[in-house]
Amino acid sequence: MASGSTLSRLAGATGAALTATFVATGLVVPAASASAAGGFTAGSPGTGDPYFPDMGNGGYDATHYNLALAYDPASKKLTGTARISARATQNLSRFDLDFQGPLTIGRLTVDGRPASFTRTGAQELVVTPARGLRKGRAFTTTVSYSGVPEKIDDPALGISGWVATGDGAVGLNQPIGAATWYPVNDTPRDKATYSYAITVPSNLTALANGEPMGAARHGDTTTYRWTMRQPMSSELAMVAIGRYTVTSGRTPGGLRNITAIDPQLVTAASQPADFHNQTAGVVDWEQTVFGRYPFASTGGIADKAAVGYSLETQGRPVYDRRTAGVNPSGGLLAHELAHQWYGDSVTPAFWKDIWLNEGFATYAEWLFSEKSGGDTAQQLFDETYAQGSDAEVWKPVMADPGRDNIFHETAYDRGAMTLHMVRKAIGDDDFFTLLRRWPAEHRYGNVTTADFIAFVERLSGKDLGALFQAWAFTAGKPALT
Ligand code: TRP
Ligand code: ZN
Repeated sequence: MASGSTLSRLAGATGAALTATFVATGLVVPAASASAAGGFTAGSPGTGDPYFPDMGNGGYDATHYNLALAYDPASKKLTGTARISARATQNLSRFDLDFQGPLTIGRLTVDGRPASFTRTGAQELVVTPARGLRKGRAFTTTVSYSGVPEKIDDPALGISGWVATGDGAVGLNQPIGAATWYPVNDTPRDKATYSYAITVPSNLTALANGEPMGAARHGDTTTYRWTMRQPMSSELAMVAIGRYTVTSGRTPGGLRNITAIDPQLVTAASQPADFHNQTAGVVDWEQTVFGRYPFASTGGIADKAAVGYSLETQGRPVYDRRTAGVNPSGGLLAHELAHQWYGDSVTPAFWKDIWLNEGFATYAEWLFSEKSGGDTAQQLFDETYAQGSDAEVWKPVMADPGRDNIFHETAYDRGAMTLHMVRKAIGDDDFFTLLRRWPAEHRYGNVTTADFIAFVERLSGKDLGALFQAWAFTAGKPALT
């Protein structure tokens, strides 16, 4: 799903980077062979993200993923059929999906006809349909596959992908995990709607993003259906399978709220009702500060997976074994739920701009602390800024921290400090307008740091070039001017 204006703007801005990337990866398709089929050319095998050149693919725009997944925790075997609706954005002779790891493909069709395919490079599933796909044409790729998925455990980026948990599994994708469990155009810039049918042993529950569409028991197994009707980046798709206590209801403000907690994580301090009601309270409060919640329901999943983080999966964040225990402080809920506006609805086009997610989510924690009677945002800024000039937080360049530093504290803490500096520069009226208008104007879209600077300057009528130069584009501790 293309977000019109942003995408065309990006296409212009990144033309040079795209060419360079494909040459560098050696996957460039020579013009001569590419045009062999009468002006039909191969879609590109990446989308020009300098940190992740293999991620995503060109030549088409995915619009909907229909994922039928069956998981057997005893054997850890996943059996899937992915039906991917897309539209060709060029006359397409062949195209790639991202799909990695040991899963074996059984059948692959394009519009119902068998298509030939090969798997190359780190994660390219190269599909050649029986006939070329004319630009603008809608087509459906159906891939049947099975095997024991392998999660990613990257030294810098941690765990992502399909993570087995003993009695179940979670699919947590950020940033590069999606392709471990389904074939996907794995770029934050190709948002699509999703529907899931997840079949699990009947003693387990399966959850995913969005709205529940019912559960049907067939003896030993039960199929749970979910649907996400708002555009979603693949990094935010999620499945959670396990034993859960599920609580469904509405927030006091009227938003549908579905939470699930593994009974093993329930303690006196962390009851299902607390998790549920605190989530509701935080989302309702955030709507008063950030504007209308961008999705049809909210909630959260507390799972015993030990991935070391919680994740802002769209509509329903996942808290792992350790982070679930952080409740009932509420700050972490404020963080993950703030991401629904900043990160999920409004998504950086390139991973280097992840501070636009983490800075806002961390600032949401600061605002939450202040409104809960804890330290004020100013106090939290002062404490964070007080770190010595040799501290880790000042080392990377925030708006281009490097592939291995996308989860570095620069994105979180320097990000929040930068927003606080913006607040001081433009005043509270304009700043709180910014918090609402930025996600409203870019709802379901993709953004860059340059978009953000232009937006703030337009809103405030101020030249903030020097502020962003020091805070976003220069390493080292900025002076407080
Ligand atoms: N983006 C997550 C959050 O801030 C955190 C996260 C995801 C993370 N993957 C990670 C942190 C890997 C460290 C390492 O809500
Ligand atoms: Zn975050």
